[in-house]
Amino acid sequence: MTTATNATTAPPTTTAITGIATLVTNDPSLGEGPLGLIQDAAVVIDGDRIAWVGESSKAPATDNRVDAGGRAAIPGFVDSHSHLVFAGDRTEEFNARMSGRPYSAGGIRTTVAATRAASNNVLHANVGRYVAEARRQGTTTVEIKSGYGLTSQDEARALTIAGAHTDEVTFLGAHIVAPEFADDPAGYVDLVTGPMLDACAPHARWIDVFCERGAFDGDQARAVLTAGKERGLIPRVHANQLSYGPGVRLAVELGAASADHCTHLTEEDVDALAQGETVATLLPGAEFSTRSTYPDARRLLDAGVTVALSPDCNPGSSFTSSMPFCVALAVREMGMTPDEAVWAATAGGARALRRTDVGRVNPGARADLALLDAPSHVHLAYRPGVPLVSAVWHEGTLI
Ligand code: NIG
Ligand code: FE
Repeated sequence: MTTATNATTAPPTTTAITGIATLVTNDPSLGEGPLGLIQDAAVVIDGDRIAWVGESSKAPATDNRVDAGGRAAIPGFVDSHSHLVFAGDRTEEFNARMSGRPYSAGGIRTTVAATRAASNNVLHANVGRYVAEARRQGTTTVEIKSGYGLTSQDEARALTIAGAHTDEVTFLGAHIVAPEFADDPAGYVDLVTGPMLDACAPHARWIDVFCERGAFDGDQARAVLTAGKERGLIPRVHANQLSYGPGVRLAVELGAASADHCTHLTEEDVDALAQGETVATLLPGAEFSTRSTYPDARRLLDAGVTVALSPDCNPGSSFTSSMPFCVALAVREMGMTPDEAVWAATAGGARALRRTDVGRVNPGARADLALLDAPSHVHLAYRPGVPLVSAVWHEGTLI
């Protein structure tokens, strides 16, 4: 990649990225198929926005020019599900799991203890490190959840720290029942829907609940999400990860933006997703790292469900921030085509966050894109484990 800058006194405001072998726009009106593919393309960035997209030979004059040298370009990945505010790691639990012990919700308690004991500085630094790690792999939007504090003060602290790194902040006080309430889960739900919500609602856009055996049942999850909605938070649900259950249907019924995991689904669950507005966000890093059966993306797509992909970065079930890894898993293990997986990791994530300004490369969108050391986006699945992301623009800035 070569860069040539005009000699001007004022800082350049427009940049053309030319010589893009294949550009994924995710705007079908701009190119071929659902991904809106343009061959031999150029993109013009003006400040933090996309100003123009088209054939490279027709690119308008700009202050600055970058030659992509025949690389592919895609919208920056939109990661709609992460748990980055934590301290410690769970190497021992992972080791035990790889020796045959099953994953359970209980492991979350280890991270709760480490997170509560950590200073603000340590938690800030951890989030910054994982956001930077994800960005190097092409992720330009990331949602971040609380969920390892489980007191009003610790949850509000986690949300404040998350909010310093992203606008997409999710209150997950109902991750598991706090250890102090082990004998009184109803008391914990009262705390989450009362004083904890009071402390946390001002710092979050979304409310989430882990609806699962060992965490919260359908009635408890409903109480949490309904209370959050009354405070203006929009629901998203950890649903049907480890077992069949009410999570997905509850998510659709309450108009959740997303039902996440969707690993164990009945026909009724799939029908509900197909008929509702709720995105199914699949998190194959969790199945990879817990040695579990993958969700059936093909079944969901064939039923007409909107699918998103996310790494679910957390220290327990999926300690990866890599969207390219998830794209490769989705194609190899979940029946998605490379085009479907790349769409799910970009436009799908944007749908799951109800965003129209990211997950696409078209005029007016935020200037978030990644160049790949490959002639097309298909190589993300074709060349698993290879660090193909060679340049990332975030809000118009090359990072
Ligand atoms: O999405 N399922 C619940 N929460 C996380 C795991 C959290 C943990 O194990 O620390 C998940 O997989
Ligand atoms: Fe999660």
